[in-house]
Amino acid sequence: MATGLLYRRLNHVATGTVDTPLIKGLTTPAAGADATGFRAADPATSLRDITHYNNFYEFSTDKEGVAGASATFEAKGWQVSVEGLVRKPRVFDLDELLKISPPEERIYRMRCVEAWSMVIPWVGFSLSKLLEVVEPLSAAKYVAFETLLDPKRMPGQRSQVLDWPYVEGLRMDEAMHPLTLLASGLYGRALPPQDGAPIRLVVPWKYGFKGIKSLVKIKLVPTQPRTSWSAQAPNEYGFYANVNPQVDHPRWSQATEQRIGESGRHPTLMFNGYAEQVAGLYTGIDLRANF
Ligand code: MTE
Repeated sequence: MATGLLYRRLNHVATGTVDTPLIKGLTTPAAGADATGFRAADPATSLRDITHYNNFYEFSTDKEGVAGASATFEAKGWQVSVEGLVRKPRVFDLDELLKISPPEERIYRMRCVEAWSMVIPWVGFSLSKLLEVVEPLSAAKYVAFETLLDPKRMPGQRSQVLDWPYVEGLRMDEAMHPLTLLASGLYGRALPPQDGAPIRLVVPWKYGFKGIKSLVKIKLVPTQPRTSWSAQAPNEYGFYANVNPQVDHPRWSQATEQRIGESGRHPTLMFNGYAEQVAGLYTGIDLRANF
Protein backbone atom coordinates (compact mmCIF):
# COMPACT_ATOMS: atom_id res chain seq x y z
CA MET A 1 0.00 0.00 0.00
CA ALA A 2 1.42 3.38 -0.91
CA THR A 3 1.80 5.52 2.17
CA GLY A 4 -0.21 8.46 0.84
CA LEU A 5 0.92 10.52 3.79
CA LEU A 6 1.37 13.62 1.70
CA TYR A 7 -2.00 14.96 0.75
CA ARG A 8 -1.86 18.16 -1.21
CA ARG A 9 -5.16 19.99 -0.93
CA LEU A 10 -4.25 22.35 -3.73
CA ASN A 11 -3.45 19.55 -6.10
CA HIS A 12 -6.94 18.31 -6.93
CA VAL A 13 -7.17 17.10 -10.47
CA ALA A 14 -10.71 15.77 -10.78
CA THR A 15 -13.67 18.05 -10.35
CA GLY A 16 -17.40 17.48 -10.50
CA THR A 17 -20.32 16.69 -8.32
CA VAL A 18 -22.00 13.45 -7.33
CA ASP A 19 -25.23 12.96 -9.25
CA THR A 20 -26.24 9.51 -8.03
CA PRO A 21 -29.92 9.18 -6.97
CA LEU A 22 -31.11 10.60 -3.67
CA ILE A 23 -31.98 7.86 -1.17
CA LYS A 24 -35.62 8.03 -0.11
CA GLY A 25 -36.91 7.38 3.41
CA LEU A 26 -33.59 8.03 5.11
CA THR A 27 -33.77 7.91 8.90
CA THR A 28 -31.28 9.81 11.04
CA PRO A 29 -30.02 8.59 14.41
CA ALA A 30 -32.28 9.74 17.24
CA ALA A 31 -30.97 12.47 19.52
CA GLY A 32 -29.35 10.66 22.41
CA ALA A 33 -28.16 7.88 20.13
CA ASP A 34 -24.56 8.95 20.67
CA ALA A 35 -23.81 6.01 22.96
CA THR A 36 -24.37 3.70 20.01
CA GLY A 37 -21.50 5.33 18.10
CA PHE A 38 -23.84 5.81 15.14
CA ARG A 39 -23.23 9.56 14.99
CA ALA A 40 -19.73 10.93 15.42
CA ALA A 41 -19.74 14.53 16.62
CA ASP A 42 -16.67 15.48 14.54
CA PRO A 43 -17.28 17.78 11.54
CA ALA A 44 -17.96 15.76 8.40
CA THR A 45 -15.37 15.70 5.63
CA SER A 46 -16.53 17.47 2.45
CA LEU A 47 -18.33 15.49 -0.23
CA ARG A 48 -15.59 16.56 -2.61
CA ASP A 49 -12.80 15.07 -0.52
CA ILE A 50 -14.78 11.88 0.21
CA THR A 51 -15.32 11.36 -3.52
CA HIS A 52 -11.95 12.54 -4.87
CA TYR A 53 -9.42 11.05 -2.47
CA ASN A 54 -9.99 7.31 -2.62
CA ASN A 55 -8.32 3.96 -2.27
CA PHE A 56 -9.82 1.59 -4.84
CA TYR A 57 -7.05 -0.33 -6.56
CA GLU A 58 -9.49 -1.98 -9.00
CA PHE A 59 -9.54 1.41 -10.76
CA SER A 60 -6.31 3.19 -9.90
CA THR A 61 -3.58 3.33 -7.29
CA ASP A 62 -3.65 7.13 -7.59
CA LYS A 63 -6.06 8.36 -4.92
CA GLU A 64 -6.99 11.43 -6.90
CA GLY A 65 -7.43 9.40 -10.08
CA VAL A 66 -10.01 6.87 -8.82
CA ALA A 67 -13.00 9.17 -9.39
CA GLY A 68 -12.13 9.70 -13.05
CA ALA A 69 -11.11 6.08 -13.69
CA SER A 70 -14.38 4.74 -12.23
CA ALA A 71 -16.76 7.37 -13.62
CA THR A 72 -18.36 5.09 -16.21
CA PHE A 73 -18.60 2.02 -13.95
CA GLU A 74 -22.05 0.47 -14.40
CA ALA A 75 -23.69 -1.42 -11.52
CA LYS A 76 -26.96 -2.27 -13.31
CA GLY A 77 -28.22 -5.80 -12.59
CA TRP A 78 -26.02 -6.09 -9.49
CA GLN A 79 -26.49 -9.17 -7.34
CA VAL A 80 -25.01 -10.24 -4.01
CA SER A 81 -24.75 -13.91 -3.10
CA VAL A 82 -25.04 -14.71 0.61
CA GLU A 83 -23.95 -18.31 1.07
CA GLY A 84 -21.95 -20.86 3.03
CA LEU A 85 -22.93 -21.96 6.53
CA VAL A 86 -26.47 -20.54 6.52
CA ARG A 87 -29.88 -22.17 6.59
CA LYS A 88 -31.23 -20.04 3.72
CA PRO A 89 -28.53 -19.18 1.17
CA ARG A 90 -29.74 -16.67 -1.37
CA VAL A 91 -28.70 -14.49 -4.28
CA PHE A 92 -30.19 -11.03 -3.73
CA ASP A 93 -30.91 -8.52 -6.45
CA LEU A 94 -29.68 -5.17 -5.18
CA ASP A 95 -33.21 -3.77 -4.67
CA GLU A 96 -34.26 -6.85 -2.67
CA LEU A 97 -31.20 -6.45 -0.50
CA LEU A 98 -31.82 -2.74 0.10
CA LYS A 99 -35.38 -3.51 1.26
CA ILE A 100 -34.20 -5.65 4.18
CA SER A 101 -34.04 -2.64 6.51
CA PRO A 102 -34.74 1.12 6.17
CA PRO A 103 -31.76 3.25 5.15
CA GLU A 104 -30.13 4.96 8.14
CA GLU A 105 -27.62 7.77 8.25
CA ARG A 106 -24.47 6.74 10.16
CA ILE A 107 -21.75 9.31 10.66
CA TYR A 108 -18.52 7.39 11.21
CA ARG A 109 -14.87 8.26 11.50
CA MET A 110 -12.79 6.35 8.94
CA ARG A 111 -9.11 5.84 9.72
CA CYS A 112 -6.98 4.52 6.87
CA VAL A 113 -3.97 2.37 7.83
CA GLU A 114 -1.90 4.97 5.93
CA ALA A 115 -2.56 7.47 8.78
CA TRP A 116 -5.13 9.74 7.16
CA SER A 117 -8.77 9.92 8.18
CA MET A 118 -12.18 11.27 7.26
CA VAL A 119 -15.62 11.62 8.83
CA ILE A 120 -18.23 10.18 6.48
CA PRO A 121 -22.04 10.40 6.64
CA TRP A 122 -22.85 6.95 5.26
CA VAL A 123 -26.26 5.55 4.41
CA GLY A 124 -26.97 1.91 5.13
CA PHE A 125 -28.04 -0.60 7.75
CA SER A 126 -26.31 -3.03 10.07
CA LEU A 127 -24.90 -6.08 8.28
CA SER A 128 -26.53 -8.16 11.05
CA LYS A 129 -29.96 -7.44 9.48
CA LEU A 130 -28.90 -9.20 6.28
CA LEU A 131 -27.20 -12.07 8.11
CA GLU A 132 -30.35 -12.67 10.19
CA VAL A 133 -32.36 -13.13 6.97
CA VAL A 134 -30.16 -16.02 5.79
CA GLU A 135 -30.07 -17.63 9.27
CA PRO A 136 -26.44 -18.44 10.14
CA LEU A 137 -25.67 -21.97 11.34
CA SER A 138 -23.77 -22.37 14.60
CA ALA A 139 -20.76 -23.73 12.67
CA ALA A 140 -20.31 -20.28 11.04
CA LYS A 141 -17.39 -18.59 12.85
CA TYR A 142 -16.25 -16.04 10.25
CA VAL A 143 -17.67 -14.09 7.33
CA ALA A 144 -15.72 -13.82 4.06
CA PHE A 145 -16.42 -10.92 1.67
CA GLU A 146 -15.56 -10.60 -2.00
CA THR A 147 -15.49 -7.71 -4.52
CA LEU A 148 -16.56 -8.08 -8.15
CA LEU A 149 -13.92 -9.66 -10.41
CA ASP A 150 -14.28 -8.14 -13.88
CA PRO A 151 -11.13 -6.65 -15.43
CA LYS A 152 -13.18 -5.21 -18.29
CA ARG A 153 -15.15 -3.02 -15.88
CA MET A 154 -12.41 -2.67 -13.28
CA PRO A 155 -9.29 -1.92 -15.31
CA GLY A 156 -6.95 -1.94 -12.30
CA GLN A 157 -7.54 -5.71 -12.14
CA ARG A 158 -5.43 -6.06 -15.31
CA SER A 159 -2.38 -5.22 -13.22
CA GLN A 160 -0.99 -7.53 -10.54
CA VAL A 161 -0.87 -4.92 -7.77
CA LEU A 162 -3.10 -7.22 -5.65
CA ASP A 163 -4.22 -10.82 -6.04
CA TRP A 164 -7.78 -10.28 -7.37
CA PRO A 165 -10.56 -10.31 -6.41
CA TYR A 166 -10.17 -8.14 -3.29
CA VAL A 167 -11.26 -10.22 -0.30
CA GLU A 168 -11.87 -9.37 3.33
CA GLY A 169 -13.18 -11.05 6.45
CA LEU A 170 -14.59 -10.58 9.91
CA ARG A 171 -15.15 -12.80 12.89
CA MET A 172 -18.84 -13.67 13.24
CA ASP A 173 -19.30 -11.50 16.36
CA GLU A 174 -17.64 -8.54 14.61
CA ALA A 175 -19.92 -9.02 11.60
CA MET A 176 -22.99 -9.10 13.88
CA HIS A 177 -21.99 -5.94 15.79
CA PRO A 178 -24.52 -3.12 15.18
CA LEU A 179 -21.75 -0.70 14.11
CA THR A 180 -20.78 -2.95 11.18
CA LEU A 181 -22.51 -1.31 8.27
CA LEU A 182 -23.61 -2.46 4.85
CA ALA A 183 -23.43 0.92 3.12
CA SER A 184 -25.32 1.86 -0.03
CA GLY A 185 -24.84 5.62 0.07
CA LEU A 186 -23.19 8.71 1.48
CA TYR A 187 -24.37 12.26 2.00
CA GLY A 188 -27.95 11.05 1.34
CA ARG A 189 -27.20 9.75 -2.17
CA ALA A 190 -26.45 6.32 -3.62
CA LEU A 191 -22.73 5.46 -3.49
CA PRO A 192 -20.72 6.82 -6.40
CA PRO A 193 -18.44 4.23 -8.07
CA GLN A 194 -15.26 5.50 -6.42
CA ASP A 195 -16.64 4.83 -2.92
CA GLY A 196 -17.72 1.26 -3.68
CA ALA A 197 -20.98 1.32 -5.64
CA PRO A 198 -23.44 -0.13 -5.31
CA ILE A 199 -22.81 -1.70 -1.89
CA ARG A 200 -19.82 -1.95 0.46
CA LEU A 201 -18.83 -2.78 4.00
CA VAL A 202 -17.87 -0.18 6.65
CA VAL A 203 -16.29 -1.29 9.94
CA PRO A 204 -15.53 1.98 11.75
CA TRP A 205 -13.26 0.66 14.51
CA LYS A 206 -10.93 -1.04 12.02
CA TYR A 207 -8.52 0.34 9.45
CA GLY A 208 -10.24 1.42 6.24
CA PHE A 209 -8.99 -1.53 4.19
CA LYS A 210 -11.47 -3.79 6.01
CA GLY A 211 -14.25 -1.76 4.33
CA ILE A 212 -14.41 -3.82 1.15
CA LYS A 213 -16.11 -2.13 -1.80
CA SER A 214 -18.49 -3.28 -4.56
CA LEU A 215 -19.45 -6.50 -2.82
CA VAL A 216 -20.73 -9.51 -4.78
CA LYS A 217 -20.28 -12.34 -2.28
CA ILE A 218 -20.72 -12.82 1.45
CA LYS A 219 -19.89 -16.32 2.67
CA LEU A 220 -20.18 -17.67 6.21
CA VAL A 221 -17.28 -20.01 6.89
CA PRO A 222 -15.85 -22.15 9.75
CA THR A 223 -12.27 -20.79 9.72
CA GLN A 224 -10.49 -17.44 9.35
CA PRO A 225 -10.62 -16.49 5.66
CA ARG A 226 -7.75 -15.15 3.57
CA THR A 227 -7.79 -11.34 3.27
CA SER A 228 -6.17 -9.32 0.48
CA TRP A 229 -3.81 -7.04 2.41
CA SER A 230 -2.68 -9.58 4.97
CA ALA A 231 -1.97 -12.04 2.13
CA GLN A 232 0.02 -9.34 0.32
CA ALA A 233 2.14 -8.24 3.31
CA PRO A 234 1.42 -10.39 6.40
CA ASN A 235 3.90 -8.53 8.61
CA GLU A 236 2.29 -5.16 7.80
CA TYR A 237 -1.45 -5.83 7.70
CA GLY A 238 -3.20 -8.26 10.02
CA PHE A 239 -6.57 -9.94 9.91
CA TYR A 240 -7.97 -7.93 12.83
CA ALA A 241 -6.74 -4.50 11.72
CA ASN A 242 -8.28 -2.79 14.74
CA VAL A 243 -7.28 0.88 14.88
CA ASN A 244 -4.64 1.02 17.61
CA PRO A 245 -2.39 4.04 18.25
CA GLN A 246 -0.04 1.87 20.35
CA VAL A 247 0.79 -0.63 17.62
CA ASP A 248 2.78 1.06 14.87
CA HIS A 249 2.90 -0.06 11.29
CA PRO A 250 6.44 -1.39 10.60
CA ARG A 251 7.08 1.63 8.36
CA TRP A 252 5.24 4.45 10.16
CA SER A 253 3.67 5.52 13.45
CA GLN A 254 -0.03 4.99 14.04
CA ALA A 255 -0.16 7.46 16.97
CA THR A 256 -1.64 10.36 14.97
CA GLU A 257 -3.56 10.95 11.77
CA GLN A 258 -4.10 13.60 9.12
CA ARG A 259 -7.80 14.49 8.91
CA ILE A 260 -8.36 15.16 5.21
CA GLY A 261 -9.41 18.77 4.59
CA GLU A 262 -7.92 19.99 7.90
CA SER A 263 -4.46 21.18 8.80
CA GLY A 264 -2.61 19.67 11.73
CA ARG A 265 -2.90 16.15 13.04
CA HIS A 266 -5.36 14.42 15.38
CA PRO A 267 -4.31 11.84 17.95
CA THR A 268 -5.49 8.42 16.81
CA LEU A 269 -7.96 6.90 19.27
CA MET A 270 -8.07 3.29 20.44
CA PHE A 271 -10.53 1.39 18.24
CA ASN A 272 -10.87 4.70 16.35
CA GLY A 273 -12.90 6.10 19.27
CA TYR A 274 -15.35 3.17 19.38
CA ALA A 275 -13.78 1.39 22.39
CA GLU A 276 -16.93 1.82 24.47
CA GLN A 277 -18.90 -0.13 21.88
CA VAL A 278 -16.38 -2.78 20.76
CA ALA A 279 -13.56 -3.31 23.29
CA GLY A 280 -15.55 -6.17 24.83
CA LEU A 281 -15.16 -8.18 21.62
CA TYR A 282 -11.44 -8.48 22.32
CA THR A 283 -11.28 -9.35 26.01
CA GLY A 284 -8.31 -11.62 26.65
CA ILE A 285 -6.86 -11.11 23.17
CA ASP A 286 -3.30 -9.78 22.76
CA LEU A 287 -3.90 -6.90 20.35
CA ARG A 288 -0.20 -6.56 19.61
CA ALA A 289 0.09 -10.16 18.44
CA ASN A 290 -3.33 -10.05 16.79
CA PHE A 291 -2.95 -6.85 14.81
N1 MTE B 1 -12.15 -2.29 -1.49
C1 MTE B 1 -11.72 -2.73 -2.68
N2 MTE B 1 -12.45 -3.64 -3.34
N3 MTE B 1 -10.55 -2.30 -3.23
C2 MTE B 1 -9.74 -1.40 -2.59
O1 MTE B 1 -8.68 -1.03 -3.12
N4 MTE B 1 -9.40 -0.04 -0.56
C3 MTE B 1 -9.64 -0.03 0.89
C4 MTE B 1 -11.14 0.04 1.21
N5 MTE B 1 -11.88 -0.90 0.39
C5 MTE B 1 -10.17 -0.91 -1.32
C6 MTE B 1 -11.42 -1.37 -0.80
C7 MTE B 1 -8.95 1.04 1.59
S1 MTE B 1 -7.26 0.86 1.77
C8 MTE B 1 -9.61 2.11 2.15
S2 MTE B 1 -8.79 3.25 3.13
C9 MTE B 1 -11.04 2.34 1.87
O2 MTE B 1 -11.59 1.37 0.99
C10 MTE B 1 -11.21 3.71 1.25
O3 MTE B 1 -12.57 4.01 1.05
P1 MTE B 1 -13.00 5.39 0.37
O4 MTE B 1 -12.21 5.53 -0.90
O5 MTE B 1 -14.47 5.28 0.11
O6 MTE B 1 -12.68 6.48 1.35
